[in-house]
Amino acid sequence: MNPIKHVAIIMDGNGRWGTNKGKSRNYGHKQGLKTVEKIIKESVKNKIKYLTLYAFSTENWKRPKNEINYLFSLLDNFLSNKIRELHQEKIKFLVIGKKRFNKKLNKLLNYSEKLTYKNKRLQINLALNYGSKSEIIDAINFIKKKNLKINEKNVSENLYTKNIPDPDILIRTGDRKRLSNFLLWQLAYSEIFFEKKLWPDFNERDYNKILELFKKTKRNFGKI
Ligand code: FPP
Repeated sequence: MNPIKHVAIIMDGNGRWGTNKGKSRNYGHKQGLKTVEKIIKESVKNKIKYLTLYAFSTENWKRPKNEINYLFSLLDNFLSNKIRELHQEKIKFLVIGKKRFNKKLNKLLNYSEKLTYKNKRLQINLALNYGSKSEIIDAINFIKKKNLKINEKNVSENLYTKNIPDPDILIRTGDRKRLSNFLLWQLAYSEIFFEKKLWPDFNERDYNKILELFKKTKRNFGKI
């Protein structure tokens, strides 16, 4: 049986969920946050050590301003209300991506990371203003600047995900089969599960089904 240390998720489909219901895309994001909370709880239950969630890509800045502002206000509220609870649950919070937001949000993100730094039960990596290609380019530039060898170890150690094992599982909800510039280096040997349901409809049962399927999968890592 394969142990599961790290699950990464592309939480796609919030916008469509909202409009399918005759409401706004933002309504879908609000509902999507409820799924985030469910999946965090279920990850703790399943003793998963790392959960990486794609919340905002470098490409998402092209969305309408009202949607961008809404997403960040959701995040702000979520952390303001929940970070102490997460801390009590021994959950560690880390942002992967470039923290270039408004002063208040940057401060809250830094505070949340600092507060939970030593926690060991589950680490949530929130991908925010994240782009995998630029993450890899930044790592290579850093290695060059330090006159180090460009090799696998040095690239891995200079990504945002340094010290984090590569994901065992990638889940993408929302019935689209693409990686959307997410963890391109780290997903080299991950098992990928594409889920038809839109993110707000995804639930604990769906998640557990995927975890069970993964446990039965034979992983070869290039061998036979
Ligand atoms: C993709 O769906 C989802 C996002 C870009 C945002 C993800 C945000 C959440 C799940 C809620 C907020 C989370 C936190 C942690 C505050 P989409 O909008 O691209 O959906 P679509 O494909 O239907 O347009």
